[in-house]
Amino acid sequence: MSDKIPVLELRKVDKSFGPIDVLHEISLKVHRGEVLCLLGDNGAGKSTLIKTLAGVHKPTRGQIFMDGEEVAFYRPKDAADRGIATVHQFGGTFPLMSIGRSFFVGVEPTKGWGPFKIFDRKTANEIAVKAVQDFGITRIDDGDRLVGGLSGGERQSLAIARAVHFGARVLILDEPTAALGVKQAAHVLRIVNEAKRRGLAVIFITHQVMHAMAVGDHFAVLIRGAVAADFRKGEKTREEITDLMAGGETMADLEATIEGYMEAHDGRPPPAH
Ligand SMILES: Nc1ncnc2c1ncn2[C@@H]1O[C@H](COP(=O)(O)OP(=O)(O)O)[C@@H](O)[C@H]1O
Ligand SMILES: [Mg+2]
Repeated sequence: MSDKIPVLELRKVDKSFGPIDVLHEISLKVHRGEVLCLLGDNGAGKSTLIKTLAGVHKPTRGQIFMDGEEVAFYRPKDAADRGIATVHQFGGTFPLMSIGRSFFVGVEPTKGWGPFKIFDRKTANEIAVKAVQDFGITRIDDGDRLVGGLSGGERQSLAIARAVHFGARVLILDEPTAALGVKQAAHVLRIVNEAKRRGLAVIFITHQVMHAMAVGDHFAVLIRGAVAADFRKGEKTREEITDLMAGGETMADLEATIEGYMEAHDGRPPPAH
């Protein structure tokens, strides 16, 4: 029964920056053990929406609920304290730190007390390596290695494992696969599925429809700051989703427009904006 109450819910959330209205009446629900894919072209408002969920921005209007209870986040720490963790495109970790050290930034395990407290490197490394290996990232076996030496996919995975280890309940991933190659992206998608299996609610932001379809249970397409479509897995085809993201114009229409332009301009493609 409690699973019927969303971990996180937005009701008619608006966000404006001065006279600029960016988000319009966004209503969404995320449940534990589910991945909500937030799709949308560049500038659709995806990052603004997740910053609103992460306590970076305050909604101009509307409400946010966690476990059915209304919440207000005044700063990122308020959202973090409620278990909302955000992982950005580049993993948000520290390239010049060791894996063990970066895992515990802000929550260092210490030996001794008072002025004798020192960072317990060995314990930190053991915990960090175990946490990432439990996520199936077996290539990380030395906590002294520098984060900067990891691949993009491994860094993302480390950041996700870290968030889960410290009790995240809602995991927000902003374009985690955008800068990755095919294999690395597949790796991150596996980690997302593992987070979901562990009961987290995941909000996965992407403009790559194939990546969304590989992990999504629920999909919302954002166009110019509004939810243009909201549907569950299996309800739409890849082509339909791609067309929706293109703003209602079908890809076939777009192609025809481009071809028409090229015919009228000696075969030159239209200028990019
Ligand atoms: N702090 C801000 N002040 C004014 N406009 C903003 C601000 N942040 C974002 N925007 C505008 O909101 C729109 C959506 O941006 P964003 O949320 O970054 O989109 P996305 O992540 O989907 O690419 C853009 O037009 C952007 O210029
Ligand atoms: Mg963005």
